[in-house]
Formats: sequence, C-alpha cells, structure tokens
Amino acid sequence: MISNNYNNRLFGRTRGRSKKKIDLKKYHQIVDKYKFQNCDKKINYILDIGTGYGETSIFLANQFLDKVIVSCEKYIDGNLILLKNIEKNEINNILLHNGNVYDVLECAHRECFDLVWIFFPDPWPKNRHAKRRLITSDFLIKLHNTLKENSEIHIATDSTIYVRFILNSIYSCRDYYVWMNQSEMNLHIKDYFDIETKYYKKAINSQRKPSLFILRKL
Ligand SMILES: C[S@@+](CC[C@H](N)C(=O)[O-])C[C@H]1O[C@@H](n2cnc3c(N)ncnc32)[C@H](O)[C@@H]1O
Repeated sequence: MISNNYNNRLFGRTRGRSKKKIDLKKYHQIVDKYKFQNCDKKINYILDIGTGYGETSIFLANQFLDKVIVSCEKYIDGNLILLKNIEKNEINNILLHNGNVYDVLECAHRECFDLVWIFFPDPWPKNRHAKRRLITSDFLIKLHNTLKENSEIHIATDSTIYVRFILNSIYSCRDYYVWMNQSEMNLHIKDYFDIETKYYKKAINSQRKPSLFILRKL
C-alpha cells in the first residue's frame, strides 16, 4: 500500500502563484477518487512522472486504452487541471499519486511498468542545486527493477546542463539500459510524439530545442 512518507525530499512548488484559495479538504476528496493505492499484478501500468498540468497523462491514457497510467505529481494546481480533464473527457484509465514518485517506486513490485515517461523534469541548473535533480544513475537503476523486460523510459528536456547530466547517468547505467535513439542526428520530441506540454511550449517560445532520450531495459 502506498504512503507519502518516503524520506526523499521534494523540491519546488506545491501550489501556484494564484491567490485563489483551494479547499484542500475537497481537493483530497476528489484525489481520493482517483488515488493510486497499490500495484495490481494483473494490470499493465505506465508511470508518468512529474506531470505538471497532466497533458502527458491524458495523451498516454488515450494512446494506451488497455493500460493504466499512474500520474505522479505533487503540484496541486496542476493535479486539479488533470482531474478536471479526466472528468470532462470521461477517461477511466488514469490513477493519481499526489506526491513523490519515490512513494510509488517503494510500493511497486518487480516488472510492474510497461513504460515510464519523464517529461521536462526540473533541471535545477545551478551547481549548488544539482543534488535535487531527479534523473541520476541511482534513480535509473531503481526504475530498472520496476520495469518489465524490454520496456522503455522516455525522458524529455530542453536544458543543455541537464542533457549533459542525463548523458552521464545513461553512461553509468550502460549495463542496465540501451539508449535507443543515440545514433540519430536529432532527438526532437515531435519526431516521435505529437504532444505539447506547458514546458514544451515554454522551450519552443524561448527557442530551445527539447531533446528526447529513449532507454530500453536490458
Ligand atoms: C518542469 S515541470 C514539468 C511538467 C510537465 N511534465 C510538462 O512537461 O509541462 C516538472 C514537474 O515535476 C514535478 N516533480 C519533481 N520532482 C518530482 C518527484 N520526485 N515526484 C513527482 N513529481 C515531481 C514537479 O512538481 C513539477 O511539476
């Protein structure tokens, strides 16, 4: 059973800048309806990490109707938009973990996930914040245990600093994953998926080209 007390600290915002008050009691009642509780061995799951406003989870839910998307995000304003879109579009294959992805990994059994998406993880560009970055070799190895054979991790980023950091992490994990798109001239997301998240649009508006890394479990 999942709990929110895993001791990996979460950084960044939980609420947006809007002064609009959110009734947290009501929020948690709605979240409870979609709450990810446990990994069921009979179900095929996709893990979507740091979903922001939930665009990736909605995209994955529509692409993979036979799978359940575990959307993992602690940003309340974003989760509210996701929940609104789930109800509006009558989507029935998304579960939400309002918190840290480490909580989900703690309760996931071996070979639980068919696919993992990590779109625009916070880059924490300052050197003194580097330890806050999610994608590290340790994290990729932790994910490896929870992935099914031959399944993939898709990571998108528009930060050159993070690209270098991710490349180092991939190299350290070369016995665990094969980097599927390493020989390609470009790693552009739009060559693979027709999806625009808030941070994808931010990157394009600032003339930064987002890269996509596709890793397959060995
Ligand atoms: C830069 S935003 C990207 C949002 C969205 N994926 C997009 O492309 O627009 C990164 C998100 O990851 C979330 N996040 C960071 N660390 C996390 C963790 N350990 N577990 C779950 N979510 C996390 C943050 O709250 C933030 O909303």
